[in-house]
Order: sequence, then structure tokens, then C-alpha cells
Amino acid sequence: KGLTYRHYLLNGELKIWEGETSEVYSAIQTRNQNGEYSPTLLGKIPVMKERDALLALDSALAAFDNGRGTWPTMRVEERIKCVERFAELMAQKRTEVVNFLMWEIGKTLPDSEKEFDRTIDYIYDTIAELKELDRKSARLELNSDVYAQIRRGPLGVVLCLGPYNYPLNETFCLLIPALIMGNTTVFKPAKFGVLLITPLLDAFAEAFPKGVVNILFGRGREVATPILKTGKIDVLALIGNSKSANALQSHHPKKNRLRLVLGLEAKNPAIVLPDADLKLAVEECVLGSLSYNGQRCTALKMLFVHEDVVDEFNKLFVEKVEALQYGLPWENGVKLTPLPEPDKPEYINGLIDDALKNGAKIINAKGGLTDRSFVFPAVLYPVNAKMRVFEEEQFGPVVPIISFKDVNEPIDAIVNSDYGQQVSLFSTNADTLAPLIDVMVNQVCRVNINSQCQRGPDVYPFVGRKDSAVSTLSVHDALRSFSIRTLVACKNMNLNKV
Ligand code: G3H
Repeated sequence: KGLTYRHYLLNGELKIWEGETSEVYSAIQTRNQNGEYSPTLLGKIPVMKERDALLALDSALAAFDNGRGTWPTMRVEERIKCVERFAELMAQKRTEVVNFLMWEIGKTLPDSEKEFDRTIDYIYDTIAELKELDRKSARLELNSDVYAQIRRGPLGVVLCLGPYNYPLNETFCLLIPALIMGNTTVFKPAKFGVLLITPLLDAFAEAFPKGVVNILFGRGREVATPILKTGKIDVLALIGNSKSANALQSHHPKKNRLRLVLGLEAKNPAIVLPDADLKLAVEECVLGSLSYNGQRCTALKMLFVHEDVVDEFNKLFVEKVEALQYGLPWENGVKLTPLPEPDKPEYINGLIDDALKNGAKIINAKGGLTDRSFVFPAVLYPVNAKMRVFEEEQFGPVVPIISFKDVNEPIDAIVNSDYGQQVSLFSTNADTLAPLIDVMVNQVCRVNINSQCQRGPDVYPFVGRKDSAVSTLSVHDALRSFSIRTLVACKNMNLNKV
């Protein structure tokens, strides 16, 4: 507690920061001697500036060396060895990283462990996928005397920025494929979930050649913006919000040169049809909307329920929500935990007030009550299109329920939405579902039948339409997102010897 974490990674060396630092507070509040609660100071972290950011960029540029560097020209199997070594070293830090996940972002112990283990799996699955990709593209016969190889090569220097809700998993879903394909990187951890990178700095330094990974700490506008302004970044890889993504892109002077890999907002809906198995629908919708307090891009953020079943649905839904245990991340059975963003309770309460003013009610006990950094889930009903919560991505414990008469009402809302990540459909009748699925596959990128929206397993494509994403992430797709194919065509010569 309260330690100053001074290390950062530049040009293969762990450097010690002597400049300004900022305090990192926990989502969890602790009590002082007077019995008053206040946020827990977890540590201090460097606040690096433009000059430091540009040194990190220079280091990544030198390691890439316009594609001639050791890393981008290295044989795939050698790069794989580095990534495997990194995964071995990372696995040794499980306890420390899991503790940081709980303390920094308030994720429950089982979910923190899952995030860590899933990230290690992602790394090994990426390696397996790359071996397969490499095997397939090894040798082609174009015609009788021309042999060819398709080489998959890196794009250049990648600036990588991850989100606070999955600061390990989602960040590494960008970083690892970018690295393994031969790109060099500058990586700035998320604002919350930043300390958990510190136990991994050694692993990065040991596993990768100098300059290939550079890790900076600081404010986005002071480190990421100056890097973009140089125009020397080839890929902006970001999971977060479109406001930051747009602002960062706008600083790059050569827009056409900048490749984007972006995971952005979503407002995933559920449609509960009159012939749904209501018990199942409720279970899935509670999990889908409130796991990790609703702070998942894949969370269900609006529930459309047919008017014939809405009363029964609401009754069962509220019973389940009221039974959810809240507490500290390591306590047994806890589902609802403190929110890491200090301004989130106020934002959530603003959304609730707006809905109440426009005719909704909170239908569960304690809905919206704030206790330190806990916010009790608010189930709002009836919600309509005039309310902010109908449009805005709440990314927190608020569940809007909208009743409908005709299924075209939710379909219209989905078609007109700015977002298009996933949808959940609940019905026991395949004939009811079939035409709905035909429409939904053109709106979103994953249609879940009788189950909540979710990302995993991570080998599945993870993508969105409209404002929800640019490019696709998954073990398979990310390797392609961070690389380009080049054909090597060779006449009268056996390429296996090249
Ligand atoms: O916030 C977006 C995450 O990738 C969601 O993953 O659906 O497995 O919780 P999840």
C-alpha cells in the first residue's frame, strides 16, 4: 500500500522514474481511526510527459527499423519462443496480478482469476493459431514453374491502449497478436488497472528484444497524443470509448496511413418474446446485465420484454437482483462490488433521475442507492425512447426494461441504434426465432439465443458494426488485423530452400 512504482520499460531496459507521480486509489474504501471511509491509496505511478513518450516511440521505431529490424524480420518460430517465454514468466505473477485486479478495479476473486487464466490461454491459443497460419501459407504452387509463399508481415509501430474493465485480458488481446506478428509497440496501461502491469514489466523486459515493447505511464493527452501527432504510428489499437479514439485519430497527420483496431461502445439488447422460458430468460438477463456491475462492453444494456409477460418477468427479475450479494471482491458469493470510477455513481444517478422524471420507476428495493463506491442496481420500468438511458451506454448497474407489443418495436430500436455488437433473443419457438435471426445477423456481430451476450470463448470473433468497433478481435482474427499479406512468387526455384 502506498508504494511508489517507479519502473517503466524503455528500449529493453527497466528505467527508474524520478519525475512527477500520481496517486492510484482503490475502488475499495477503507475506514480511518475516526470511522470515516475514504478511498484506499494503493500506490503512486509515474506521470510521464511528451518527451518520455517520444523516447518510447523512437525506441519502437528503431526496433522496427522500417521493417528491417531484428524483430520484424525474425522467423516466426523465434518470435513464438519469445512470446512463450513471456507467458511462462507472466504465469508466475498470477497472485500479484489477481490481487491488483481485485483492489484496483473491484473485480471479484473468481472473475479476476478467470481474467488472468483466460489471458494466458489467449496467448497460447494465439501461438497455436499462428503456427497453423504459418503452415498453411508456407508453399503454394501458382503454376507449373512458379512457386510462391504468402508471407504475413507486420504493419509497423502499434500504439496500444486498453480499457479499465478488462485491463489485462483486453489489453493483451491487442498487444500479444501485435507483437507476435512482428510489430513493435508502445503501450500505455488503462487509468484504472494500471498497477497490475507493474509485476509484469520484468517479464516483458526479459522475454522480448530491446525496443520491441515500450511501456509508459501517464495521461493520455500527455503521452498518447504527442505520439499520434508525429504521424509515425502505423496502428492505433484501442479498446475504450469512441470519444478518445476519435480524438487520438484526429491528431495523426496522415489519416490514410493509420490502421485502426478499435473496440468501442455497445448497447446490447435482449428481446424476450411471449413464448420464452421466463425463468431462463431472467437468469441470463440478470447475469448479462449485472455481472461485474454491468461494466462490460458486452453487458445487456436494455431489456425489451413482451407486454404479455413483462409483469411476470419483472417480478422474477427483481427477486434475483435483490438476492445478489454485494461486498468486497474476495468475499464468498459476492456479485456486486465497488465501482472504480469515482464519478460513476453520480453519472448513474443522473441517468436514473432522468428516467424517473420521464415516467419510469425503480422497481427493486434499494435501486440506485449509493454506499461509498457501491451503487445498488436500479431496475427501471417502464423505460421509453425519451430517456437518456435508452440511448446512452450506462456501463454500470442500471437495467432499463422496455415493454413492447409488436416485435418490430425492438427491431426498429436496434436497426436505428448507433451500436451493433450483440443481441440476445429469448423464445422456445424456432419458427418465431428464425425470421428474427435473419434480421439480427445484419445488425450485430453475435446473436445469442436463450443466453446472455458475452465475448467468450476468445477464439470466437469479437467485433461490432456501426460505432461499436473497427476490425475484429479473436485469436484467429487478431493475427490478421495486425499484419499484411505479401506474396513471394518465385520462378524455377524451390522456395523451401529460401
Ligand atoms: O468488455 C468487454 C469484454 O471483452 C467482455 O467480455 O463478455 O467475457 O465479459 P465478457
